[in-house]
Amino acid sequence: MNNALVLELFDLKKSFSLDGRKQTKIFDGVQLTLKKSELVGIIAPSGTGKTSLLNISGLLDQPTGGSVRVLGQETGKLTTERRNSIRRNHIGFVFQSSNLLNEFSAIENVALSRIIKGFNFKDSLKYSRNLLSRVGLENRLHHKPLELSGGEQQRIAICRAMANDPKLLLADEPTGNLDYENSILVFDLLLSLVKQKKVSALVATHNLELIKRMDRVLKLTKTGLVNL
Ligand SMILES: Nc1ncnc2c1ncn2[C@@H]1O[C@H](COP(=O)(O)OP(=O)(O)OP(=O)(O)O)[C@@H](O)[C@H]1O
Ligand SMILES: [Mg+2]
Repeated sequence: MNNALVLELFDLKKSFSLDGRKQTKIFDGVQLTLKKSELVGIIAPSGTGKTSLLNISGLLDQPTGGSVRVLGQETGKLTTERRNSIRRNHIGFVFQSSNLLNEFSAIENVALSRIIKGFNFKDSLKYSRNLLSRVGLENRLHHKPLELSGGEQQRIAICRAMANDPKLLLADEPTGNLDYENSILVFDLLLSLVKQKKVSALVATHNLELIKRMDRVLKLTKTGLVNL
């Protein structure tokens, strides 16, 4: 695998078919190359396709056309099992809503992503405890998501996304539901984890303050990504 380029999107297209016949074109012609340790922001109005683009980049969805390469590997013809394995081993996801498992505690939510990668249970708990301590949640390890604030849940979601030591982090409006101060705090954490661990990140956001701190910002349009 070519580790210099973490994500490559070639002429990516996405359409959705609602009634099985009528196709709604979301975007057509997305090109992107994400290098190691690069932090790239994606902005676009609601409904333009940011979540769709991140889902396709993270192998959670298939494009209608074009191709996705992760760590140099062409993914279009891979089996579901192989796609799942790339995701499990190399990709971290911060979803638009934190999507934590409500029946599991904070530390379990984070550790699961490491256990699923194949690390042993004890190591995964220890690693997750350290990660959560770094984001100020050492006193919330055993709380369940519904016993935590939105900002705390989002910090846990970031730890979960980082717990499998990903090469590629995909974050979908990670601060979307937070107030200004919490959004800066959560973004600072994301930034420090990304820079320290040399992860490449693609971050969709409406937050103009955060945009200023990206290495590069792209605007998603119907005809592709435009440099800003
Ligand atoms: N599973 C689906 N079936 C049909 N249409 C879909 C599906 N998922 C998304 N869409 C449509 O694709 C378009 C892009 O959706 P997407 O969620 O990617 O936008 P977004 O840029 O993330 O918006 P937001 O900023 O509100 O999160 C929307 O018009 C949406 O209705
Ligand atoms: Mg979205």
